[in-house]
Order: sequence, then structure tokens, then C-alpha cells
Amino acid sequence: MVEKSFQLFPEAASSIAGQVDALYAYMVLISAFFSLLIAFLVVFFAVKYRKKNDEIPKPVDEHSVGGMVLEIVWSIIPLGLSMIMFVWGASIFFTESRPPADAMEIYVTGKQWMWKIQHNEGAREINELHVPVNRDIRLTLTSEDVIHDFSVPAFRTKTDVLPGRYTTEWFRPTKVGAYHIFCMEYCGTKHSGMIGTVYVMNQGDYDTWLGAGSGEGSMAEQGESLFNQLGCGTCHPSALNKQNGRCPNLNGLFGTTVILKDGSKIRADESYIRESVLYPQAKIVAGYDDIMPTFKGLVTEDGLLKLVEYVKSIGPTNGTETSAPPAPTQTSSSPQTPARPAGAANAGPR
Ligand code: CUA
Repeated sequence: MVEKSFQLFPEAASSIAGQVDALYAYMVLISAFFSLLIAFLVVFFAVKYRKKNDEIPKPVDEHSVGGMVLEIVWSIIPLGLSMIMFVWGASIFFTESRPPADAMEIYVTGKQWMWKIQHNEGAREINELHVPVNRDIRLTLTSEDVIHDFSVPAFRTKTDVLPGRYTTEWFRPTKVGAYHIFCMEYCGTKHSGMIGTVYVMNQGDYDTWLGAGSGEGSMAEQGESLFNQLGCGTCHPSALNKQNGRCPNLNGLFGTTVILKDGSKIRADESYIRESVLYPQAKIVAGYDDIMPTFKGLVTEDGLLKLVEYVKSIGPTNGTETSAPPAPTQTSSSPQTPARPAGAANAGPR
């Protein structure tokens, strides 16, 4: 819960929290043990070997077998202890950086100095995030201005939120309750006020809360109307209009591998869609011309997320990490589509 008396650690309320705490405990114990050992030996030897009268100490033989063994031992043991930290830390890092494929998606936009949150179903909130307990939640984060950092200490997660880019953070809340959200990257005068609360609810309560949400329709629906409003459908074949041929087909696109004009391949993920709206000339799909105008300045970050969600909704994979076949070749001028080994889609940027 949010307010409590003095706590050494924040509450552990996610599936990863226990592992992070165990690693920290290990590092603290190792550091404490060696700090005390060294401090003790400094004092002990200072007393034991203090200068007495005019005694001249015996020279130490550096090349004795005993000296060599000692040096090897005191190199190997710290190496082993620190390698445990490294491997253990890396394994937690990998877990934290790879959201499960079936995670529930929520979009977060940071701006000076607030958090704007959008649920797929259409509900929107500011500085509050409602999530169901015991579900994998994947946040897609971006910023409208400067670098922020979205952190929920009770979940032991923090991720930089960057302008012009999507980053992801995932967690699985394990305890119903309310937990702090902090911005953990200095972002201007009111950085310290850029805070919020995560409400972890039972699935039933969450459904009720969602049901009471906005009447604006789901994010994908809002994205679709924005898509039509901006006139994207006059060129791109989409759910409504399957016939256009001048621009790449967006049906079934999301999550597949796209072949570009220069022969390189890219996975059609959130970042690719976003870039293609703002900087259409950056990546031209093989077989198409550089004819699309930029929509920079015409779509907000929130709007971009809705467009992404729309493209996702007409895609085959719903954002899961799969080895779906590449989008069907749209035109005869496309280069041959090489047979792609299963799993090659994982060569994406993530
Ligand atoms: Cu946003 Cu600090």
C-alpha cells in the first residue's frame, strides 16, 4: 500500500520483485562481508605488525609457492562471486526486457509533467494506471517532449521514456493494492511532481472499471477514424478498402517481415509504423515509390498510438512475437521473396 511506516525495501508486488530482491540481498551480503573483513584486517595487522624498537622485518619471498597459491585463491574467489552477480543480473535483465507474447497492452505517454495512459478498450487516465492482478502487462511508452522514466518500485521496474521512440516495460502484478509511479529521469522543474498511482485490481473489479470508461470506442476504432480522417485510406488498402495498389497493403501487415527497396528486411512493429507515418521516406517498401507525404505535426503521440493500434488490429499477429509468413507480395516488381526460415522474424530490432 502507498503509505506505511519506514520501509527498507518497497513492497514486493510483482512476479519479478522477489528475484530482484534476492539478487540485491546477495550483493549487499557480499559487500558487507568483505567490507567488515577488510576493515577488521586493516586494524588487526596494524596492531600486530606495528613497529617495535629497532626490529628489522624479514623480507617477504614473493616467489614462494605459498604466495602464488594465496594470490590465485584471492583472485579466483572474487571472480567467482562477481560472475554470479553478472550471470544472475543478466538473467533477470533478460526476463525484464522480454515481455511475454500474450501480455495485455497498455500505452503510456509521458509529458512535462504527467503520465497519460490509454487502454486498448478506449479508457484513458492521467497519472493513474489501473491493471488486473496476476496478468502480464506490457506497456508501450513514448514521450511528447523530453526523456522521462516510468518506474514502479513495488514492481521493481523502470524504463526510460524517450521522445520519438517506443520503449516497452512489462510486469505481472501479484498483489491487489495501490503503488507509486515515479518519473526517474530528471525532466525539468516539476520532475519530482511527475508521479502517479498504479491500482492493481481483481479481474472482476478491473472489468467493471473498464466498462465505466470512455464512450469513445476502443483505441483501434479511434485509430480507424483517425486513419480515415487523415485520408490514409485513399492510398493504403485497409480493412475498409481492399483495392488500392499505390501504397503498401496494411491488412495482415503487423508483426510480419517487410522487404525494403534496398533489399533489407524489417519487422513491422510499433516503431516501424510510427516512423512510416512521420518519416515515410525513411523506409520505402520494395516495389513502391516514395510518394507518401509526412504526417509530422499532424498527428499527436496519442494519435500515433491509436494508428499503431489500428494497424495492429487488422494485422495477423496482434503484436505477438511470431514467425508469421511475410506479407504477400503486392506487386510484380517486388524482388523474389526468399523462403524465410521459421524464427527469422526474431531478427527484429527488439
Ligand atoms: Cu518526467 Cu522526470
